[in-house]
Amino acid sequence: MLKAGEEAAQEAARVLAEGGVAVLPTETVYGLACDATNPAAIAKVYAAKGRPGTNPLIVHVDSIEMAMRCVSEWPLRAQVLSERFWPGPLTLVLPRSSWIPLEATAKLDTVAVRVPASRWFREVIRLLGRPVAAPSANPYMGLSPTRVEHLDPELLKLVDLVLDDGPSRLGLESTVVDLSGESPALLRPGGISRAEIESALGGPLNTPPNEGPARSPGLHRRHYSPKARLELVDRLAPERPGLGFGPPVGDLQIEMPLDPEAYGAALYDALHRLDQLGVSAIEVEAPPESPEWEAVWDRLRRAVAPAEP
Ligand code: TXA
Ligand code: MG
Repeated sequence: MLKAGEEAAQEAARVLAEGGVAVLPTETVYGLACDATNPAAIAKVYAAKGRPGTNPLIVHVDSIEMAMRCVSEWPLRAQVLSERFWPGPLTLVLPRSSWIPLEATAKLDTVAVRVPASRWFREVIRLLGRPVAAPSANPYMGLSPTRVEHLDPELLKLVDLVLDDGPSRLGLESTVVDLSGESPALLRPGGISRAEIESALGGPLNTPPNEGPARSPGLHRRHYSPKARLELVDRLAPERPGLGFGPPVGDLQIEMPLDPEAYGAALYDALHRLDQLGVSAIEVEAPPESPEWEAVWDRLRRAVAPAEP
C-alpha cells in the first residue's frame, strides 16, 4: 500500500511492466490494473475478481493519441467526445486494433477505451508506455470500491501493489458509449450525463434494450450489490438501517445529499459502511426520477435486482 505520488507511480508502472496487478485510483472508482497488452496479466485480473471471461475490460490510456492506437477506426464522433470529455468518466467502445489482445475484450472485435482524470493513473500509463486494462477493483458482482478501505481482503491477496489516493471524487463508474454501430448508444449511464453527450453529439443516444442478447456483456441486471439485501422505499422507517434524505433516526441511517452528483459520490461508501457493520438489509429512500439521477437509478436498480441463476 503506497500513498499516490511520483515514486508510487513509478513503482506501479514497474509492477505492471513485469506482468503484475495493481489497484490504482481513478476519479470514478478504484481499478484493478494490468498491462492491457499482456494476456497473462489479464488472466490474473479475471482470476482476482472471479469475473467470467465473457465480460470485457475497459482499457485506460493517457491520451487521445494512445486511444487511437488501440482502435482500428476513429470516427468524428470519437474525436468530438474525447476532446470534450477526456480526461474524464467517459468510455468509448470502438473497433479494436491488433495492439489490444482478444483476452482484454472477451473476444469481441471492439474495445472500450477511456482517459482517466486521475493524474497518478495517467502517470502510470505514461511511464509504462502501454494501455492499462482495469475493471473496478471489486469481486465479481460486488460493490465497486471508492476508497482503499473498501477493498476486499481476499482480492488484495492477489494484488502486488495498491496506490491510495483517498476517496474517489465521482464515486460512480464511467459512462459507456458505443460508437461502433450505426448510431451511438448509451451502454451504461455514469459520470457524464446523457444530456451532456447528446448535446456534444448534436443528436440522441440510443439505449439498447436490457433484455435479449447483451451488447455490453458486463451489464448484468444484478451488479453493484452490497452483501446486505437492498430495498427501495418511499420513506425510511425509524431505526431501520438505510440511506435517506432526512435526518437519521438511529445509528444505522445515513443522510444522503439531495444532489445527484454528491449522491453518486457518497453511494458506494454508504453501502460499504453499512455492509461492514454486518446489517442484513438496507433500505434506500427512492431519489427523484428526473434525468440527472439516471446513473444513480441505474446502480440502485441493479443492486436490488434478484441474483441471476
Ligand atoms: O469508471 C470506470 O469505468 C471504472 C474505472 C476503474 O475506470 N471501470 C469499470 O470497469 O467500471 P468494469 O470492468 O467494472 O466495467 C466495464 C464496463 C462493463 O459494463 C463492460 O461490459 C463494458 O464496460 N465494456 C467493456 N468493453 C466493452 C466492449 N468492447 N463492448 C461493450 N461494452 C464493453
Ligand atoms: Mg465493475
